[in-house]
Amino acid sequence: MSFLEMIDVLNEELVKKNEDPIAFDHDCREGICGMCSLYINGQPHGPLQTTTCQLHMRSFKDGETITIEPWRAKAFPS
Ligand code: FES
Repeated sequence: MSFLEMIDVLNEELVKKNEDPIAFDHDCREGICGMCSLYINGQPHGPLQTTTCQLHMRSFKDGETITIEPWRAKAFPS
């Protein structure tokens, strides 16, 4: 499962529980457009040198806590 597919599944579960889904952006999901930019565990795009949509959950350990943050840039201060 890709990282973005994992968020899709998580969001389906949150909506079933009447909780707010996680807002995130994407477009191509093919590693081309760059719309899926996230900081994952404090690293741009996560542990691999790839776009977030090309990152797969096999890159993480079972039960690992994953921290997801918006893209960091001066134009978007935290
Ligand atoms: S959604 Fe286009 S590069 Fe990830």
